[in-house]
Amino acid sequence: MEIILAEVIGFCFGVRRAIELAEASLRDGRRVNTLGPLVHNPQEIVRLDAAGIHAVERVEDVHGDTVVIRAHGTRPEVFAELRRRHLTVVDATCPFVTKSQRLAREFTRDGLTLVIVGHPDHPEVQGIRGYASHPSYVISLPEDVATLPAEIKPGVLAQTTVNEQLFLDVVTALRARFPEATVRNTVCSATRERQDAVRQLAARVDAVLVIGGRHSSNTNRLTEVCQHVCPKTFLIETADEIDPRDLLGCTRVGITAGASTPAWLIEQVVRRLQAIDAQNGGATPVQEEAPSHG
Ligand code: F3S
Repeated sequence: MEIILAEVIGFCFGVRRAIELAEASLRDGRRVNTLGPLVHNPQEIVRLDAAGIHAVERVEDVHGDTVVIRAHGTRPEVFAELRRRHLTVVDATCPFVTKSQRLAREFTRDGLTLVIVGHPDHPEVQGIRGYASHPSYVISLPEDVATLPAEIKPGVLAQTTVNEQLFLDVVTALRARFPEATVRNTVCSATRERQDAVRQLAARVDAVLVIGGRHSSNTNRLTEVCQHVCPKTFLIETADEIDPRDLLGCTRVGITAGASTPAWLIEQVVRRLQAIDAQNGGATPVQEEAPSHG
């Protein structure tokens, strides 16, 4: 069996930065809480918790002196409440999300109605809506465009981790109903690169393992993109979840991982695949997907 890693895999810039900022605060002797899990990856959360970086859900539950705002960002009133409580705030909002928050503020200042293409329950989306000064809308599919009020002038953004093709399809439907809509494609480059890389990978293997948290939005999008090209796509959180029977007869197995999946989990999956293959008498070369040009 040949194991092929996607060209772009694992932690994105924003998640890596958030973890580094939290770990730096810990090294400075601070008692660190994060508002919500720092990454959508249960195994990495266990590691961070053991290191002393504890996630809490609500401001009232903070028991440390320092609060890290995760890469998803949060609503402005949460920052205000943390400052009112004299807590040190480490803002690890991903700069791509900060840009969306700024656009939300500008759109509504200019009389547009914020429309986000994404998932209404996602913390990033809820945070961005907090920067809009008028009521805003979240839609997920082209058919949702019909639910928007007729009188609005939409200012449209994407949740940074949505499937870019889906975003473009929603925008096409939106423009048919609101030709004057202002649109900014805020799908982040890390999301785009991972989706492009997995599309290329899926086309040349018999099966793909997507490693990531089941609640991770970007991991679920990667899985969807991959399934379109390679029906034998399996979302796993850990190496233990690999079922060797799923890979029977596969000579090339691809691996990708969500933007919130740490390198150590990816390494464990590679080692388990090698062990499975060795039991079957294989040699298991590991390749990195060659970078594409042009
Ligand atoms: Fe930022 Fe994109 Fe990662 S928005 S947190 S770099 S998935």
